[in-house]
Amino acid sequence: MTGGWLEGDAALITGGGSGIGRAVAERFLAEGASVTILGRDKKRLDEVVRDAADPSRIHAVVADVRDSGSLHLAVAEAVDRFGKLDTLVANAGVWDYQRQLTRLSGQELNTAFDEIFAVNVKGYVLAAEAAWRELVKTRGSIVMTLSNASFYVNGGGPLYTASKHACLGLMRELAYELAPKVRVNGVACGGMNTDLRGPQGLGLADRSISASFAKQGPDTPPPPIPLHDSSTDPRDFTGPYVLLASRAQSGPITGHAINVDGGIGVRGFAGAAGGDHL
Ligand SMILES: NC(=O)c1ccc[n+]([C@@H]2O[C@H](COP(=O)([O-])OP(=O)(O)OC[C@H]3O[C@@H](n4cnc5c(N)ncnc54)[C@H](O)[C@@H]3O)[C@@H](O)[C@H]2O)c1
Repeated sequence: MTGGWLEGDAALITGGGSGIGRAVAERFLAEGASVTILGRDKKRLDEVVRDAADPSRIHAVVADVRDSGSLHLAVAEAVDRFGKLDTLVANAGVWDYQRQLTRLSGQELNTAFDEIFAVNVKGYVLAAEAAWRELVKTRGSIVMTLSNASFYVNGGGPLYTASKHACLGLMRELAYELAPKVRVNGVACGGMNTDLRGPQGLGLADRSISASFAKQGPDTPPPPIPLHDSSTDPRDFTGPYVLLASRAQSGPITGHAINVDGGIGVRGFAGAAGGDHL
């Protein structure tokens, strides 16, 4: 294709086998980029490659984001395949199913903290470390998947919320440290119908957030956010990733998070949305 916002760019996306990572991979391809998707599950990655309209512009690498060596190999493989790296999308993550402090034992907290922070926070730092040298060469950028839980409470329990607040701090720190060569920004997504899993340490590795969406029926109350009827399809959250990855569209933007959460920050006291009667 021609005329896409990411024409000729090359991106590496962690957690690209499902959910928002897959949606971003497909959107980047549609915008003219080449994409390397990285994840733990080979079957899923293969599926994304198989479904791509132009398989010559997509490559898959099986790796765990907690392993620095594998991330370095993935960056090398991405550059070998597509000649350079313009964008790293740090995205792979796990949720804590809003498990509150009072519902967790000390032992559970101990195990789940290590697992959630290892994937959600260490996974982002290690990916940034593996990629920055290539990103400096292209004056590229990093886009991190953040969350409503990077700003507000109750999008997770204490572990997830703390991990996503940490990612916001990481995004800002790296924006400072890598400037002026590499821009670093975030997309703070709200609830999306994906396959987001929980930590193994809490026995939640096989539970998917999609089950909560499947349970919703016509009598389910809408989420208490201003845009309470907005889409939860991850494909509808990909625009800000394209914007932030595009040098032409966001060249002067760094250290910034775009909140894509239906307006949580402007919800009212009496009712979430002020215009329901309109
Ligand atoms: N779904 C939501 O409501 C929501 C809301 C806000 C933010 N997020 C964030 O979006 C990001 C993507 O999650 P998603 O909702 O698309 O879920 P998802 O489970 O569909 O996608 C996450 C992907 O990361 C992979 N992954 C997990 N741990 C990994 C590891 N250690 N190494 C390599 N790959 C690993 C998974 O296999 C999966 O393919 C996460 O950072 C999550 O916190 C999700």
